[in-house]
Amino acid sequence: MGMLRRFKNPPVFALVLTAVLLGALGGIDSWADNDLPRIKFLATGGTIATRGGTRLSAEEVLEMVPGLQKYARPEPEQFANIASTAMTLDQWVQLANRINAVFDADAGLTGAVITSGTDSLEELAYFLHLTVKTTRPVIVVGSMRNAGAPGFEGSANLLDAFRVAASTESRGKGVLVVLNDEINSAREVTKTDALRLQTFQSRPYGILGVVDPDRVVYYREPVKRHTQKTEFDVAALTGLPRVDIMMFYQGASSDLLRAAVDAGAKGIVIAVAGADLTGGSLAPGIAYASRQGVMIVAATRTGSGRIAALSSNRVREGLIGGEDLTPLKARILLMLALTRTHSPTDIQRMFTEY
Ligand code: DGL
Repeated sequence: MGMLRRFKNPPVFALVLTAVLLGALGGIDSWADNDLPRIKFLATGGTIATRGGTRLSAEEVLEMVPGLQKYARPEPEQFANIASTAMTLDQWVQLANRINAVFDADAGLTGAVITSGTDSLEELAYFLHLTVKTTRPVIVVGSMRNAGAPGFEGSANLLDAFRVAASTESRGKGVLVVLNDEINSAREVTKTDALRLQTFQSRPYGILGVVDPDRVVYYREPVKRHTQKTEFDVAALTGLPRVDIMMFYQGASSDLLRAAVDAGAKGIVIAVAGADLTGGSLAPGIAYASRQGVMIVAATRTGSGRIAALSSNRVREGLIGGEDLTPLKARILLMLALTRTHSPTDIQRMFTEY
């Protein structure tokens, strides 16, 4: 009280004292003055940013994550607020460039967390895996339930994502997809179920690690080229070349393949049956595409398994073995490959290296 009496303006003193006490208790922005890892938070929308029919801002999404201030200081930015399937390829390029710019401008930033709708999350994540030039952790996260639904798992997924981004062990592992306490490589993960929470799986490879209550634990790391070690540079890109996916099924007509070529496709991924490389009923369409200089990549429609490179003669004709990439991921690599070269031999090399 003596101190209060000596203070010239008691009400102001009381306010300052309250602010100091609240700050110490974590009631006021406790992110502002601590030395926790700073993590860029780029929100793009999706179910994780939806409550009922309402879109939530990046800041509102962060407010749903209790305990976040124990692990990281998020720096939110609203990149977009849309469904993943509404995002254009131009926006992918802009997002990759934005992440690169953020890291370039801020050497003290520990990592980045990106929210996405889950429907095409695996495509965005693999695109970033090949185009973001950093060893710092980049995490893509989403949720299956919206924030108004019972059992909304987005808060837990986000907390996990920030913990993974803040972990020094996450460095150099490429873009990581974190949901349900599991860490997957963007190269390997795929959405396996339209509705279930445990939808993101890295069949047949399995998860890279887990986010447990005590710590983030890794068991393995990707060995293929990614992030800082890729040759792809989206800085000067204004768009991506058209690459379509055609699925083989019994009786599939070559007409659609020819139509894609005539509409300007620069590459086509064929989702082949098993490891069949004859093309079946698509063979005439494949031959038509090759004659027009359109690159053809074979990737299996089964969900896993490897399509090896064909003979060097077939490769020179523009027929590429898609290795173990799913058709969705093979398409992304082919789009990026075509921004660098039109040499089939070089593109086949990329499919073995990435
Ligand atoms: N289905 C989700 C997606 O992948 C979210 C849909 C939405 O946000 O409208 O984007």
